[in-house]
Amino acid sequence: MNPDVIALPKLAIEFAASDRPTPFFLYEEAKIRSNCRKFLNSFRRYFPDFEALFAVKANANPHLLRIILDEEFGFDVSSYSEAWLAYKLKASGMYTGNYTTMEEFKMAEKAKLILNLDDSSAISSLSKIGIPQVISFRINPGIGQGGMQSLVTAGPEAKFGIPFEKAADAYGEAQKLGIKHFGIHMMTGSNVLDEKYFPLVVKKLLEVVALVKAKTGINIDFLDMGGGFGVPYHPTEKSLNLDHIALNVKKVFDEQCLKYNLVAPRLMAEPGRYIMANAGWLVSRVISLKNSYKIFMGIDASTNDMPRPAIYNAFHYITVLNRSKKKQKVSVVGRICENNDQFARDRLLPQCELGDLVVIHNCGAHAYAMGHNYNGRFRHSEYLLTLKNELQQIRRAETLNDLFAAIPDFSLL
Ligand SMILES: Cc1ncc(COP(=O)(O)O)c(C=O)c1O
Repeated sequence: MNPDVIALPKLAIEFAASDRPTPFFLYEEAKIRSNCRKFLNSFRRYFPDFEALFAVKANANPHLLRIILDEEFGFDVSSYSEAWLAYKLKASGMYTGNYTTMEEFKMAEKAKLILNLDDSSAISSLSKIGIPQVISFRINPGIGQGGMQSLVTAGPEAKFGIPFEKAADAYGEAQKLGIKHFGIHMMTGSNVLDEKYFPLVVKKLLEVVALVKAKTGINIDFLDMGGGFGVPYHPTEKSLNLDHIALNVKKVFDEQCLKYNLVAPRLMAEPGRYIMANAGWLVSRVISLKNSYKIFMGIDASTNDMPRPAIYNAFHYITVLNRSKKKQKVSVVGRICENNDQFARDRLLPQCELGDLVVIHNCGAHAYAMGHNYNGRFRHSEYLLTLKNELQQIRRAETLNDLFAAIPDFSLL
């Protein structure tokens, strides 16, 4: 059993649930900070000027973002509101959009973020808001890898990035516009647990760096290897060894720089899941037990709170906080009128009674952030277990007012 998957702050969860309505998310500050430190230290050992950006899409709660900023991370953002968050929190970093609007570019400029362009045609749009000093391009290397097919974000079927064969033309075009400093970026998949993948990404990126140099004379200043650092969701999966990864990235990096006679670019990465996933839990209670063709355990959370199981059929480890010694196979389901609203199917869990606490693990990243209001469901509170062991509410639960606030001429009174 991998302790990274099954660990949970049991006492804090039980205390929080004793007088607060479920469901809620609970995040642990100590875990967020230790994940940040592990990530930075592993890479900085081999790349002293290594820079990490947190992928804000993984979890955009400003209270959590402040902690991550305090751990010397910048931000990787990819929408108007995420760029605005970077502006408000004075974060440095990068804007990686795709099919980006002018409003988004303008907000990214206002936040002083480096623009990471997904398409060379975006260069001409940029001239309308002024030519930036620095620009980066997201490259599609023609191949991709991910924890599951829908998490693969490169290759011929992917909508992201500039095909690597066209990369030199894009840099050449930007150079003609007077841009002087350049970066390169790749994000080819998410939740990757294969350690060999990361040095491969860097190897490929450095081949493109060499190609660009040969064709345009440009020395690329920084290389962002993207996010995608996977976490185990199943207790039998192994956690990544970041020290190994960083060491193997260093080997490939030095080999490629030597082979192509490159001025070494500064290495960057933009993890989301690795920083937050195992620092958050979704806490809910059993509200109904139904003996149908099989046993359905209805809980007060639904997959609108955490859609990964519904969207990707993703596995999430579940702990039931009761003293039952008996186990039974149950499907853990929410209250949405869709049959994919199931957190677990036919899972062997301790026998439950109504009111028992059910905790879903690995809910810190791409969890609340992917939540939605389908079926008129509310999204729920978020709490932070601080370093002082205090519970801080960092988001209240939504109410009817929140659901209907955008509708004109409709009073709830
Ligand atoms: C551009 C970009 N960077 C970083 C990430 C973070 O990925 P992960 O959470 O897998 O590290 C994503 C996730 O989709 C992304 O699209």
